[in-house]
Amino acid sequence: MKHFIDTSEKSSKELSKLIERALYFKNTESHPTYPEFSVAHLFYEHSTRTRVSFELAAKKLSMTVINLDPSTSSEQKGEEAQDTIKTLVAMGIRCFVVRHVQEGFPEMLADVCGDRAHIINAGDGTHAHPSQAMLDLMTIVEEKPDLASLKIAVLGNVRHSRVAHSFQLACSLLGVGDLVMVAPEIWQPKTLQYGRVTDSLQEGLMGADVVMCLRVQKERLAGNEHLDLAHYRQAYALTEKHLALAKKDAMVMHPGPVNCGIEIDREVVDGPQSVILRQVQNGVFMRMAIFEHVLGKDVSR
Ligand code: CP
Repeated sequence: MKHFIDTSEKSSKELSKLIERALYFKNTESHPTYPEFSVAHLFYEHSTRTRVSFELAAKKLSMTVINLDPSTSSEQKGEEAQDTIKTLVAMGIRCFVVRHVQEGFPEMLADVCGDRAHIINAGDGTHAHPSQAMLDLMTIVEEKPDLASLKIAVLGNVRHSRVAHSFQLACSLLGVGDLVMVAPEIWQPKTLQYGRVTDSLQEGLMGADVVMCLRVQKERLAGNEHLDLAHYRQAYALTEKHLALAKKDAMVMHPGPVNCGIEIDREVVDGPQSVILRQVQNGVFMRMAIFEHVLGKDVSR
């Protein structure tokens, strides 16, 4: 059974095909329909982009969409998540898009489902957010297709970022030339999947083709991981002055939600180099490609 738990479980060929397929959907405005499949969205953690994007993607493919709100489901009466999912599988749902604060939760549900349903990870704690990584790479490839020649800087709280984790793994598989994590020591990754790390904004951003800014993610910080935000902002925020270190045509990215005035300035979010809303737009097409991939409908292409 195909799932989509993290980018590392896929081959470089599969990741390239996902990008190619998503760009095809976007550029041709044509796509197949899969009305025989139902998908349930189980979001145990807040979301705007990912939940709506998966819902739009499924509806474009003519799938039946069920949005189950865990705060009003029978889990509030003591039912365990594994029994909830078995119940939904028994009703004929074959695909689940799952977000949870607990790392490994989507994988646990994949084990419960066995060969009866596909699980797509929509973000689990600080672990992984593979659909975000893939829509980010789609957005880069669309404008700068030669990944081997690029310097990509990922700026901010890398340690707690599931986006950065899945992005590193995908960059490794797709052969990004120079991937550099730019963060103060306390927010540097404990384990690096790919690329290099620096605490120097100058070194990290100088000559970058892409600057991906990360949210501070206050809700994920342990007591000793909090930084003085005014100090952080001065040293690391993506301001117009700091962005000038990168190439003139550097793409400005952010997975969202953005905290303007903290990790990035409003002028940069709305500036000419920003592709933040293009990331959001591309997300729908990438998630269509991901549904098609897990359902095994991409084999004949
Ligand atoms: N990028 C992202 O996951 O955004 P949401 O939390 O709004 O889904």
